[in-house]
Amino acid sequence: MKIPFLDLKAQYQNIKAEVDSAIQQVLDSASFVLGKSVLDFETSFAVAQSVKHCVGLSSGTDANHLSFHLLDVAAGDEVVVPANTFIATAWGATLCGAKPVFVDCSADSFNLDPAKVEAALTPKTKAIVAVHLYGQPADLDALKEIASKHNIYLVEDAAQAHLAEYKGRKVAGTGRTAAFSFYPGKNLGAYGEAGALMTNDNEIARKARMFRDQGQSEKYHHDSYGHNYRMEAIQGAVLGVKLKYLPQWTEQRRAVAAKYRQLLGNLEQVSLPKEMPYAKHVYHLFVIRARRRDDLKAFLEQKGIGTGLHYPIPLHLQKAFEHLGCRKGDFPVAEKAADEILSLPMYPELTDQQIEYVCDSIREFYRQ
Ligand SMILES: Cc1ncc(COP(=O)(O)O)c(C=O)c1O
Repeated sequence: MKIPFLDLKAQYQNIKAEVDSAIQQVLDSASFVLGKSVLDFETSFAVAQSVKHCVGLSSGTDANHLSFHLLDVAAGDEVVVPANTFIATAWGATLCGAKPVFVDCSADSFNLDPAKVEAALTPKTKAIVAVHLYGQPADLDALKEIASKHNIYLVEDAAQAHLAEYKGRKVAGTGRTAAFSFYPGKNLGAYGEAGALMTNDNEIARKARMFRDQGQSEKYHHDSYGHNYRMEAIQGAVLGVKLKYLPQWTEQRRAVAAKYRQLLGNLEQVSLPKEMPYAKHVYHLFVIRARRRDDLKAFLEQKGIGTGLHYPIPLHLQKAFEHLGCRKGDFPVAEKAADEILSLPMYPELTDQQIEYVCDSIREFYRQ
């Protein structure tokens, strides 16, 4: 049996007629950048996330950059970033000229460990980034309390956490800003690059709309420094169609996770991701920790099962951040996780039979 790590073709086949028609409408309108499809999507996604403003952008990386730029993060400032996230979280600070300061994660949740944050704060710290890694919300209340106590910003990177909930409320409304990615493989994925900045702050939203469009307040009136971070109309149209299915897809992801738990629960060589009591996890990724991880990965590959590593090298050990002077051993929890984690296939369309095949294959490996 062949089970890809991600199967975007299956999803497209299920919604083909609607997506094709939405794209066709954009082609017929010959209006390819921003416009009605983007505006409609922004309005619907803001409602879905219970946040006042959604500003459609060209990627999640751009959303992270804009988050910090609009909070006046600049050269000389420091931003607390988890050591185990996708590198674009840290680019947000870097692109503003600021320094990312890495902090270790908690072994339970893989998210930023609030108990370790205060030791990393200095008079230069301007913000803390709560990344909701793999689709599980970070401990927002604990991080918010630290940010308020030290009078710095809490910012969310929700690139992997569409519709995830913290203590019954959706992510993206607690931080001053929140960045989303709609990269195709995300829980809500475009058919190309796309992202969004969300905020409850009217002024930040106004500035974000200007910044994404060359700093224009009206055509050829450039009131501020800006960039071309506009969302394409086709992406807005695709996202608008897919958003309607997102609650259902999220429940399907949760059902896939439950099935994995049921079938792998008593396997001592594997530990399953913990769903924190405060979290509604949306399982962008289902990440186990496995003994002899690399051999298991190769074995599953042979069996036709695709897996992933998110992420194999923590940020403090990346060449791009060599100049920050971190060393192996600085963030032991993140480093240990990087050696043990394995992301299993995870998408709403996975069938019970496919999940059983993945789990049987894992068991077969450990019987050898
Ligand atoms: C946690 C996190 N932040 C930021 C990004 C960047 O998003 P994009 O790929 O849309 O630029 C991603 C995407 O992979 C991500 O997973």
